[in-house]
Amino acid sequence: MVLATSSERQGFQSKPRNIRIIKEFVFQRVRPAYDKHVSYEIRDQGQVIMVKQFTSKPLPTIHFALGSIKQLPSLADSFGKRLLILSGNSLISQANIWDKVTASLKQNHSTLFCSTIASEPSPEMIDTIVQDHFPEEIDAVIAIGGGSVLDAGKAVSAMLTNGYGVQNFLEGVGSKNPDGLKIPFIAIPTTAGTGSEATSNAVITRTGSSGFKKSLRHNNYIPDVALIDPALMRTCPPDITAACGMDTLTQLVEGFLSTKASPITDAFAWSGIEAVQRSLLAAFKNGDDLQARSGMAYGSLCSGIVLTNAGLGVVHGMAPVLGSHFMVPHGVVCGTLMAAVNEASLAHLLETNGNREYLSKYTRLGQLFSSREDGSEAYYQEAFIEELYTLTERLNLPLLSDFGVTDEDIMTIISQSNTKNNPAVLTATEMAILLAKRI
Ligand SMILES: [Fe+2]
Repeated sequence: MVLATSSERQGFQSKPRNIRIIKEFVFQRVRPAYDKHVSYEIRDQGQVIMVKQFTSKPLPTIHFALGSIKQLPSLADSFGKRLLILSGNSLISQANIWDKVTASLKQNHSTLFCSTIASEPSPEMIDTIVQDHFPEEIDAVIAIGGGSVLDAGKAVSAMLTNGYGVQNFLEGVGSKNPDGLKIPFIAIPTTAGTGSEATSNAVITRTGSSGFKKSLRHNNYIPDVALIDPALMRTCPPDITAACGMDTLTQLVEGFLSTKASPITDAFAWSGIEAVQRSLLAAFKNGDDLQARSGMAYGSLCSGIVLTNAGLGVVHGMAPVLGSHFMVPHGVVCGTLMAAVNEASLAHLLETNGNREYLSKYTRLGQLFSSREDGSEAYYQEAFIEELYTLTERLNLPLLSDFGVTDEDIMTIISQSNTKNNPAVLTATEMAILLAKRI
């Protein structure tokens, strides 16, 4: 199906990237529209008390700064001298970064064991790395790379402590529950995407017709240290920046709109969405823009915190089957489906007279992305959807058909998808229509 171009749409204007304006906007627009939906009424001696209830999972120790990679030797030293380093091919090819990292660790008299993660981690890949090492010879696992590398490091740090294959512990696949034991783990992202540096799960992939994308998950698997140096992301190519950036935005928006959202996840989500709104296109156009790279790195970190605590929505409910059966990269799934899914969710909420909390949040999102100051709620809700379609075009995100997905695959995709914590429980028909728009 052919999309309307941005010029064919209704003339919504993007807000100029002016930090001062965005800050003013936030102060003007923030309102606790969700209070009545997540609060619990308690009567105490006749007085009604509204208590907002939530629980929060741990955060890693976060070091966020340009140049913070220099802190790695001292951070690793707090765990010991024997370090297992996992990295991606792209980092190895950037000899400048790789040589500096390994040289600084060796100068600190560390013993390094190195493995390369060449693709999304499979069960066999994790098991092979684990079998190559004795847990007593490793003091810490360090993963430096994109989301796949960080997920691999997370899984290896966990599996080094037991003698079973990782597949036994995957949600929906294995029969064993993770015990939470692990080797200390330091996560160093070189892309702004999955937020794995702050999440409790590692996604393990098996491709093919009987394939899967399933999580190894335990709160203890949240990295001990997230070392975030936005300068490491400057060589990330535009197509990867776009796809990973849309994964970040999807995670933030899905967490913000999640039925499990809380005041604390809303705070992280909104802060991250603001950063992505002013940074994504700039990072895509100029990878050396460290202000934009920093904004995306921060947004990605926030997205990991949000998804760990608030869950996700329909896009991530469809992503596993599209990734494992059709090999569509995760970020591309997010980027290509984000607008269509939100268009369907908003329409569903409006047609079913849905929860005002979520419609108000759509209004806030539209206000953030729009330059107009006097629009109606309906205007801003629609403006957000239009802005997502515009982002999809500007970032040159491909269609699902570019990966071989056809109309005949739609029902298979739907049958293996779910709506997770989406504010609108989409019907199979609604999901089929939105998928057809991106084929
Ligand atoms: Fe994601």
